[in-house]
Amino acid sequence: MKIEKPVIKIATPSDASSLSKLAEKTFRDAFAKLNKKDDFESYIADFFTENKIKSEILDSESFFFIVKIKNQWAGYAKLCKSPPPECVLSLPAIELSRFYSLQQYWGCGVGPALIEKCIEHARGKAFKSIWLSSWKKNGRGNAFYAKNQFKIVGSKTFALGSDIQKDHIFAKLLV
Ligand SMILES: CC(C)(COP(=O)(O)OP(=O)(O)OC[C@H]1O[C@@H](n2cnc3c(N)ncnc32)[C@H](O)[C@@H]1OP(=O)(O)O)[C@@H](O)C(=O)NCCC(=O)NCCS
Repeated sequence: MKIEKPVIKIATPSDASSLSKLAEKTFRDAFAKLNKKDDFESYIADFFTENKIKSEILDSESFFFIVKIKNQWAGYAKLCKSPPPECVLSLPAIELSRFYSLQQYWGCGVGPALIEKCIEHARGKAFKSIWLSSWKKNGRGNAFYAKNQFKIVGSKTFALGSDIQKDHIFAKLLV
């Protein structure tokens, strides 16, 4: 699908309501079918409320970009100054802790525009690498990171409720 050039802006607290809806929808688009309903719904109830997202926007250690297409919300990314795992060697490093577009925009250039913006931001803040964890079952996401020169540097577990999932840790050098 051909789309207009994505417009990317920094989230402010007044975006919390729309961003929480987008975060929930994009998470459902990506992972609902692959998870047990109870685990999935309780994760959403914990992590994608307006209050939770507002507190993350207000947190000086994290930072959100929002993508809009024709003034409609299409995707978002969250960067976070969290402590990196030991396998991330090039420091300081910043975590790409959320990276999502609506399914209707997959393959339309939203992901590429957003990752470029995140990398530009991280470079501008003098981070030497950008890292993330991604479920090993996430074929599309993992292919996206690989084609953007992220390398698998380790692995970790992630608890979605009772389900202990195995994640790759990816990192990309910025220098
Ligand atoms: C991650 C995301 C923003 C990337 O945006 P996108 O528009 O899908 O990215 P692209 O289409 O440019 O790249 C995806 C690549 O995966 C490939 N792909 C698609 N399905 C695949 C699969 N099941 N297995 C492996 N590769 C796959 C595509 O062909 C494409 O590669 P190509 O450009 O060489 O053809 C988007 O896919 C998304 O929101 N996914 C769900 C959320 C998610 O996984 N986020 C990351 C969590 S860590």
